[in-house]
Amino acid sequence: MELKVQTGDITTWKGDGIVVNLFEGAMSPDGGAGAVDKKLRGVLTQMIKKGEINGKLGSATVVHTFDRLPADRVCVVGLGKQGEFTLDRARQAAANGVKALRNAGAKKVATVVHGAGGLGNLDPESAAQANAEGIILGLWQFRKYFTDNNDVKQIEQVVMLERDATKLKVMKAGAERGEILANATNLARDLTNEPGNAMTPTRLADVAKRVAKEAGLEFEVLDRDRAKKLGMGAFLGVAQGSDEPPCIIVLRYLGGGKKSAPGVGLIGKAITFDSGGISLKPAADMQDMKGDMAGGAAVIAAMQAIGHLKPTLNVTGIVPATENLPSGKAYKPGDILKAMNGKTIEIISTDAEGRLILADALVYATKTLKLSPVVDAATLTGAMTIALGHLRTGLFSPDKELTNLLFRLGEETGEKNWPMPMDPEYAENIKSDWADIKNSGGRPGGSIIGAMFLKNFVGETPWAHLDIAGSSDNPKATSGYQNKFGNGTPTRTFVNLALALAAKK
Ligand code: BES
Ligand code: MN
Ligand code: ZN
Repeated sequence: MELKVQTGDITTWKGDGIVVNLFEGAMSPDGGAGAVDKKLRGVLTQMIKKGEINGKLGSATVVHTFDRLPADRVCVVGLGKQGEFTLDRARQAAANGVKALRNAGAKKVATVVHGAGGLGNLDPESAAQANAEGIILGLWQFRKYFTDNNDVKQIEQVVMLERDATKLKVMKAGAERGEILANATNLARDLTNEPGNAMTPTRLADVAKRVAKEAGLEFEVLDRDRAKKLGMGAFLGVAQGSDEPPCIIVLRYLGGGKKSAPGVGLIGKAITFDSGGISLKPAADMQDMKGDMAGGAAVIAAMQAIGHLKPTLNVTGIVPATENLPSGKAYKPGDILKAMNGKTIEIISTDAEGRLILADALVYATKTLKLSPVVDAATLTGAMTIALGHLRTGLFSPDKELTNLLFRLGEETGEKNWPMPMDPEYAENIKSDWADIKNSGGRPGGSIIGAMFLKNFVGETPWAHLDIAGSSDNPKATSGYQNKFGNGTPTRTFVNLALALAAKK
């Protein structure tokens, strides 16, 4: 799909369809919608009066123009209440508009930039970025494994139209950034949706290698032998039960210059399939555990975008990747593993494997590579979904500044976070009778205990943990730019974190 930003008048644009908007409660259309309404001789006003167009967020009404306009169809998308309008609503509206026209069979469409002018009141650059993101994220589909795609409708070109030529330059810059962020997010979605037989640790490393080449990143992969030499006993313990070779993928973006600090570390859990191991999971919904590498996918995807956007700092992405399977060689409850920092871990459940592979990755990031700050993303605990559902990511961090920054970035990107507690008392739950710590502390506060476990492996480094078990997948095809299953969270948060930290320096 091709995306362009142009100056022009939406009422004279020729193509399969145009998108205009309306706030909820508005009795007459204004701006682009108003101009279109005049050409349609009041059809939109009439439909508003009848309640067929209501401006509610999520609504998208397609009307034929019957040659009163050069475009064949008009889609009126709802922006919701004017007082509640946000960047993320612009993103959702942009997606809803192009999706409705796609369903109507349109291939070439134009849209106003929601929120950029009139009553929306967003700055034109951010609005253009959000619109571009919404369009690309909204039109994404994962149809790779269907052999018959003949009836699948697809939009070929979207033109974002702006009347005011003086805004064009900043809007182009915004849209370009949005395109990079959305394409990266869609890469993370693709990787998350890939089945376990296609997306093994080796294949994931192949993708990372391709991304590195295309985005100008350094690529390195630590194999089983290398991990053994580094003392990554926790990571290797998990990998023991699988015949697929495990690996730790390292991507480096060097934008800070030679003498600058080691830079930011982004760590992502990549269990390419989590069966639970010897502590086998129940069969129901086990297929969803192909998505247990969503954190790793987001790191690889974010590194791609960072390579293209070129912030002035160094960023290293680290993705420990392995399957978690039961076998005659698999690690067992009661086993004691030794992590890279020397801490011993008693295994209570082989299904609490994410924290084990992250333990070694975090030591490698903080102690060996001296990265700071370090942020990890992991589908770590089912309890996270119980606590926050699928909307918000659990944000765990002893660092106030990092917490505030990640919270703000979440509101801006729509990948929303929610701060969770880490009182030292919670660490009582992972005291072991036989080793320094144990890998499970029972069900109450399960997500917090997971975070407390990880804290043992970051030393004094400013660090945050994002538990995306619920937030990285949508249980059903939802509204706006969200689609079923893997949604790419927190790719854009990672990228914006790098941009924000580079701007601060
Ligand atoms: N990958 C799972 C967590 C998960 C569950 C993510 C459902 C997405 C949806 C993780 O490895 C796991 O199994 N965690 C255990 C931890 C427990 C044994 C302490 C869990 O949540 O039950
Ligand atoms: Mn597990
Ligand atoms: Zn897991």
